[in-house]
Amino acid sequence: MKPSAARTKRAESDSSKGRPVSASRTEMTELVLPQDANLLGNILGGRVMHLIDIAGAIAAHRHCHRQVVTASVDHLDFLNPVRVGDLIVLEAQVNRAFHTSVEVGVEVFSEDSLAGVRKHTTTAFLTFVALDNLGNPSPVPPLTVKSRDERRRYREAGNRREARLSR
Ligand SMILES: CC(C)(COP(=O)(O)OP(=O)(O)OC[C@H]1O[C@@H](n2cnc3c(N)ncnc32)[C@H](O)[C@@H]1OP(=O)(O)O)[C@@H](O)C(=O)NCCC(=O)NCCS
Repeated sequence: MKPSAARTKRAESDSSKGRPVSASRTEMTELVLPQDANLLGNILGGRVMHLIDIAGAIAAHRHCHRQVVTASVDHLDFLNPVRVGDLIVLEAQVNRAFHTSVEVGVEVFSEDSLAGVRKHTTTAFLTFVALDNLGNPSPVPPLTVKSRDERRRYREAGNRREARLSR
């Protein structure tokens, strides 16, 4: 869907104002159903990647107030399976805003709500690029970081970007 000219203008005038991490933080929860799973009853890796992309895009879109596209997804390891009947919980937040792109971190957990057990499955780092209504990369608002954790993520996102772009 193309953004309207009025909405794009509003986003342009807002793009110089800093936005806090909390304004775009996103949590997504889904029940893992049999159609999401392999023959062992574990969610398929591709399904997890799809959910990571959606949760990350929502956080990026909330920060940028623009249409965004996924430019890259860093290396992923799946540390623990998520079983049919578990909840899969995705927590996404913008780590750093650059010029026309943002890095979003997505942490994925499995949650067995009957046993009350939550396990970390993977952490993903994605780069989204904001687009104007002609489909060209467009400046994103700065990110305001406050807490120690937000400052650490901001710093680390800078290091990852260097490595990513040099590849
Ligand atoms: C992502 C895309 C818009 C970048 O276009 P481009 O013409 O290379 O744009 P630029 O060179 O001006 O770069 C724009 C931004 O993207 C970033 N970028 C480009 N390629 C990147 C990559 N592989 N990884 C991380 N960031 C990348 C640049 O660093 C720049 O960020 P900055 O302005 O914050 O410094 C373009 O390659 C594209 O449309 N790709 C397809 C996106 C898509 O459809 N994704 C869904 C899955 S196919």
